[in-house]
Amino acid sequence: MHASEALDKVLKLQLGQVSLPDDLAFVPYQPGLRENVLIHPLFDNTRDDPAGSDAALIRYLPGAFTPRHLHIGFEMVFVLDGDYIENDISYGPGSLIVRAPGTTHEMRSVNGCTFLATRDVPVKQLT
Ligand SMILES: [Fe+2]
Repeated sequence: MHASEALDKVLKLQLGQVSLPDDLAFVPYQPGLRENVLIHPLFDNTRDDPAGSDAALIRYLPGAFTPRHLHIGFEMVFVLDGDYIENDISYGPGSLIVRAPGTTHEMRSVNGCTFLATRDVPVKQLT
């Protein structure tokens, strides 16, 4: 285990059925880098500060893929629905995943998923 992984946390919370508004607008997120990944931004401080924080609802369509990146700061993901697969481990609804600075991951989904994601600093893309 990388030393920074000791700061990682994974909590399995119980969730009922989550219903997002039908009219919530999602747009392609970093097309050409991420495949079949959509975003609904909640806030984005990186527009004013390259080291700023952001938060968004992210939707992975079936077969979605995000290549490996390095976390410079903390990242938190809360899975709302579907199958969210990170470093080949599948997380279902209610999974709260905190990744510490210095950790890396790549993500995908077989059937699609939606999750809330926050980062205190943008990630560094590795591929
Ligand atoms: Fe990440």
